[in-house]
Amino acid sequence: MTDFKNIIAEAISKAVNLGREEIYDYIEVPKDTQNGDYAFPCFKLAKSLKKAPPLIAKDISEKIEIDKNKIVEISIVGGYLNFYINKDLLTQEVLEQVEMQEDYGKKEENSVGKNIVIDYSSPNIAKPFHIGHLKTTVIGGALYNIYKYLGYNVIGINHLGDYGTQFGKLIEGYKLWGNEYDLSEDSIDKLAEIYKRINILCKEDERVLDRCRENFKLLEQGDEYCTKLWQEFKDLSIKEFQKIYDLLGTKFDSWNGEAFYADKTDEVIELLEKSGKLVESEGAKVVDLSDKGIDTPCIICKSNGSTIYATRDLAAILYRARTYDFDKCLYVTSYEQNLHFKQVFEVAKLLGINEKYTNGLEHVPYGFVRLPTGKMSTRLGNFVKVEDLLNETIEKAKKIIEEKNPDLENKEEIAKKVGIGAVIYNDLATSRIKDEIFDIDEMLNFQGETGPYIQYMYVRTNSVLGKVRKIPEVKDLKINLLQDKYSQNIIKLIYNFEDVLNQAIAKSEPSFLARYLMDLAKAFSSFYNENKIICDDKDLQDARIYLTFSTNKVLRNGAELLGIKMPEKM
Ligand code: ARG
Repeated sequence: MTDFKNIIAEAISKAVNLGREEIYDYIEVPKDTQNGDYAFPCFKLAKSLKKAPPLIAKDISEKIEIDKNKIVEISIVGGYLNFYINKDLLTQEVLEQVEMQEDYGKKEENSVGKNIVIDYSSPNIAKPFHIGHLKTTVIGGALYNIYKYLGYNVIGINHLGDYGTQFGKLIEGYKLWGNEYDLSEDSIDKLAEIYKRINILCKEDERVLDRCRENFKLLEQGDEYCTKLWQEFKDLSIKEFQKIYDLLGTKFDSWNGEAFYADKTDEVIELLEKSGKLVESEGAKVVDLSDKGIDTPCIICKSNGSTIYATRDLAAILYRARTYDFDKCLYVTSYEQNLHFKQVFEVAKLLGINEKYTNGLEHVPYGFVRLPTGKMSTRLGNFVKVEDLLNETIEKAKKIIEEKNPDLENKEEIAKKVGIGAVIYNDLATSRIKDEIFDIDEMLNFQGETGPYIQYMYVRTNSVLGKVRKIPEVKDLKINLLQDKYSQNIIKLIYNFEDVLNQAIAKSEPSFLARYLMDLAKAFSSFYNENKIICDDKDLQDARIYLTFSTNKVLRNGAELLGIKMPEKM
């Protein structure tokens, strides 16, 4: 498709003799199309050209050479140059592209042969999967899908927290009280309780603590009994996590968690020793990072000789570099782990691996998720289980659907799509670093900026399309019947789809796509309210039907990338 922005950037750049890149970045898309489809704020060049913006605008407009078939008009408003593109050309190209490409917006230009590792979800076994883990699961899953759509080779990793001295304690607790618990149900809660009890006992009795340490040592050495218990805790936990993954549709290519790296940390220590940066501090081995602006040293080995979370993350970097030859390795966690990743990424530079790898490491932090005070938090008790929250959302969605559309078939299935869609959209609606409130009623508001709203608009496109016998072909359309502002709004959004996907991965912000889908859904709503789609004028109807069809396709493809499934009816 014609890259209008680029054409404008090149033409301006020639006219003023400045770099295209810089000009390109300055070009804006005016809020009101009255002011053009693109605008160039000339004051950005006032300094380098030593001229007043209106003068620059005039100069450029006189000198500029631009294809009149693509840019039909240029106007000067104050210090701005406004560019008007050829609407019919844009419409024609967009609709043709939609017709040609089943996966509209999919482009593989920059992505072929590039490997992207995404470390997401990554809950800790024998501990509750909390509402923050839900967010990494949703964000990571969306990034995974978008990268894949754009042609990257993606490796999704669930870096389970399945290792550490706490398992020595859990084994001891299980030995003492295991027979009191039926672990076939709610196993994580019960394991968490055992863990709490053993911790209390450890504080009271030093000998118990010693036994816990001994268990962990045995586990490290591969002792049969301890390993068997640990494996059981792990299996039970995964079984519970899997229920959530099934609801959300989450998949991973690898489940290599921390334990997988337990026998791979020696190399990390050797490499760091060789670098000369590993120093003793109060019996521990640490890397001092103060010259890198990080005040807290990174502990590699504790004084008792055992490694920590960070050591295993370093071993994982080595392993992932060798196994996946990654161009990027993303870590989606709460921002509470900012320091951890700063340290680990800095220390990774001392491992002697290619810079390509250390440059490719990227932490993708997100903000807190809170429950609205008073509501569910009290009713469901202090331990709000994510699985319960998801099921509760589905239940509520079902009630709403039953009220709105009692005759609907497959209500269960639709309620699941709507409920889960609502949760996913809520997790992705705002930029990830912002704190978020998990309010089920809010996220299920069909009139709000919610997942169900987008689904509802999609369903509306479906019912419109259901009224015609056949979707017309683009070659038979009278493109110039789509010049009105509501149609053009949609055309432009669809034109931007690929760009939005690229921005979403560039900034690791699936929220860009979430916002985009909301804009598209709203644009369709206005189009639908203002224009009669099914009408007596066959040409007009065909053109509008095709636009509806295009919206339908992009809404569905886009939502699926976020992990939101579209109901055909609701
Ligand atoms: N298990 C950690 C947690 O629950 C997250 C792990 C993130 N991934 C990593 N490679 N450190 O907070």
